Amino acid sequence: MKRLDGKSALITGAGRGIGLAFAEAYVAEGARVAVADIDMDRAQAAASEIGDAAIAVEMDVTDQASIDAAVTTTVEALGQIDILINNAAIFSAAPMVEIERTDYRTLFDINVGGTLFTLQAVARHMIDRGIKGRIINMASQAGRRGEPLVAVYCATKAAVISLTQSAGLNLIEHGINVNAIAPGVVDGEHWDGVDAFFAKYEKKPLGQKKKEVSASVPYGRMGRPDDLTGMAIFLASDEADYIVAQCYNVDGGQWMS
Ligand SMILES: NC(=O)c1ccc[n+]([C@@H]2O[C@H](COP(=O)([O-])OP(=O)(O)OC[C@H]3O[C@@H](n4cnc5c(N)ncnc54)[C@H](O)[C@@H]3O)[C@@H](O)[C@H]2O)c1
Repeated sequence: MKRLDGKSALITGAGRGIGLAFAEAYVAEGARVAVADIDMDRAQAAASEIGDAAIAVEMDVTDQASIDAAVTTTVEALGQIDILINNAAIFSAAPMVEIERTDYRTLFDINVGGTLFTLQAVARHMIDRGIKGRIINMASQAGRRGEPLVAVYCATKAAVISLTQSAGLNLIEHGINVNAIAPGVVDGEHWDGVDAFFAKYEKKPLGQKKKEVSASVPYGRMGRPDDLTGMAIFLASDEADYIVAQCYNVDGGQWMS
């Protein structure tokens, strides 16, 4: 018996990186998965590599019609949604005096609004069907404290932690557990972008910031997407039934709270 046998999951931003690792890990644990992403080419490539237990779903988490369509498509294909991972997000960095309102709006729209309104749409589906579901939001160590060049992204991830608490407290009366995972620094295309921002603002050669953060992780290296999958499986499993409105650090020892 696998830990997610018979379960169906919708994972946003699963075309690459951590979301893709979640999709692969969930299927290995017996689930069927909707690989949802704004980049349909990546979603399709990911789903076909995973195999029959995965479908690709085009989804823009900033667009309510797209959220609703993704939920409908997933329910039609997989029967229902037992697990949602709100994983889609983007990063940006700038000194305080250079932050632009358009950047602020875009990050809050994707990272916070996308999490809130996808959670809402899936929670409505779970409540309608009487599903004792699981919702996992991707926070970050960036949500635990500010950083000099990362004000907006940090604020969005602090908001995700707060939303997890409110949603967790509100939805547990329906038997829906909402929790969050706070990764530290996880290598991949996301961090290639982070590294490029620091190269620009801290005047470092490309790759230098990655070396510095790797050296600062108590575990001794940056995270890999697979480092996050154990927590994502656990929080979706029956073993996590009594866990409500929490945010777990999975970061090689970088943050303690
Ligand atoms: N990589 C890290 O170091 C790190 C650290 C802490 C937290 N996180 C969080 O973990 C999650 C996954 O990170 P990752 O490193 O895999 O990121 P990533 O950038 O590699 O992947 C993000 C995915 O989201 C998709 N996406 C972007 N905008 C979207 C939209 N509007 N609608 C739907 N999909 C959209 C992208 O196409 C991409 O496939 C994010 O929430 C991120 O903030 C990552």
